[in-house]
Amino acid sequence: MTKLKHLYEDCAAYFDDLYAPDKKVYVFGDGDPEARIVLVGEAPGEQETLLGKPFVGRAGKNLDEFLRVTGLGRGELYITNVVKFRPVRPSSGQRVSNRPPTREEIGLFLPWLKRELALLEPSIIVTLGNVPLRAVSGRSLTIGQAHGTKLESAWGGEMFALYHPASIVYNPKLKETYLQDLAAFAQTAREMGLMRP
Ligand code: URA
Repeated sequence: MTKLKHLYEDCAAYFDDLYAPDKKVYVFGDGDPEARIVLVGEAPGEQETLLGKPFVGRAGKNLDEFLRVTGLGRGELYITNVVKFRPVRPSSGQRVSNRPPTREEIGLFLPWLKRELALLEPSIIVTLGNVPLRAVSGRSLTIGQAHGTKLESAWGGEMFALYHPASIVYNPKLKETYLQDLAAFAQTAREMGLMRP
């Protein structure tokens, strides 16, 4: 889809200019651009940056539960992030570690995400965690309030809020709730005719 490719090129040029002389490594969306279900995460991590795709490595493993419960394949989805580069902070020695994206970074990426989703035209957007929940809904909700529910996106389409798959690894008590939310999403997707019965 060339429009999407052009959008990603324009986005990279914009941020290259903004952060010059710093060079970021961008991770744009991946999957079927015609997919009716689009997943939106927070920001890429180390593996994503190395492989150039969202939710690979450990984060990809965390997403497996979503695929298992819904019966959807990665190829039937489009997966992207709010922030398209890995937010890092200095760690020990020369190393860096992940940090959450800042409010400013999220704000700068918002118009790009809006344009990306307008080109993709999904039937439903699934947000993974707080950052995409707030970005896509345009509301200052918390995932604790909104998880497992269908909402209206800030730009007019349907969205469904899920916990970030990594949060289940950090907080195993959420697992049961996450599984219930996945079942609720699968039900919603079936009702919308997006999945096999
Ligand atoms: N990897 C991604 O691509 N996005 C996330 O939100 C987390 C890990």
